Amino acid sequence: MAAATTPGKIILFGEHAVVYGQPALAVPVSQVQVQVEVTDASRSGIWIDAPDVNLSSELSRLAPDHPLAAAIKGVFSALNISRYPNLHIQIESTIPVASGLGSGAAVSVALIRALSLAVHRPLPDEQVSALAYDVEKIHHGTPSGIDNTVITYAKPVYFVKDLPAPQGRGAVGEGKTIETFRVAKPFTIVIGDTGLPAPTKEAVADVRKLRQANPERYERLFAAIGSIARAARQAIETGHPEHLGPLMDENHALLQEMTVSSPELDRLTEAARSSGALGAKMSGGGRGGNMIALSEKENAPAVADALSNAGAKRTIITTVH
Ligand code: PMV
Repeated sequence: MAAATTPGKIILFGEHAVVYGQPALAVPVSQVQVQVEVTDASRSGIWIDAPDVNLSSELSRLAPDHPLAAAIKGVFSALNISRYPNLHIQIESTIPVASGLGSGAAVSVALIRALSLAVHRPLPDEQVSALAYDVEKIHHGTPSGIDNTVITYAKPVYFVKDLPAPQGRGAVGEGKTIETFRVAKPFTIVIGDTGLPAPTKEAVADVRKLRQANPERYERLFAAIGSIARAARQAIETGHPEHLGPLMDENHALLQEMTVSSPELDRLTEAARSSGALGAKMSGGGRGGNMIALSEKENAPAVADALSNAGAKRTIITTVH
């Protein structure tokens, strides 16, 4: 048997602007996770059971662009395996789907890792992340790659997507700067889920249109968010996580201006601040999904209660270290 477990993730700073080359910070969230187990199957074929999404199927019955099919075929193709072994794949997840906690990337990474282990050809992290990125691309249009990266490495990540080379300057690049960074002093984040699906692809597409209509304004917004992300990294590395509160508030205001927040996200961020959080912002694609708040450790349960009272469908208290 081969198994792999992956965490969820949250974006601390920089969502959306990261698509346009600005830095973003993301951290793993180990309170939610995906576990994939791969065992030999007695019957022929590759059998997949994913009860959390009501899926039970043989590989060939899945559409070719189904993320699970794409991940499995991606692994075999990378390993030059053309005759597929008979396997059973069990996928269990406690990460809510489509909420900005990285469930899709967490499933892909765990599946790619477990499958490569099952055929005794474990893939290095870099390749696991790259294969998961290929799967992300099928359904997310132009993903930055931050989800598969933070989940593969399961460490705080500072991420910069390299922009495509300008025309006439060679191939379009998909390179990335990925740096894991040091958390000098642990800090507590409370996550609040609006319970509404977060249509990341639509939000990203809308931002693209808005930017086309008003490039200068949007470049200014992206640049302001980039500065916040850089300041946040410095605060985390120098042991001043309390500085993150105001930076979260500023980042949230810029995301509101970009139209990717929502009344529910605004209500939850306000509730967090009123209950003593040091700052709060939406996290991920926006419009729905999750928000995050920085809190003193002792006050985190009170912030979580305030979020529930303001309509959060679930809360998670996590420590970044
Ligand atoms: O909704 P999430 O958590 O998958 O995050 C999306 C983050 C964006 O910056 C909006 C898009 C991306 O690909 O980075």
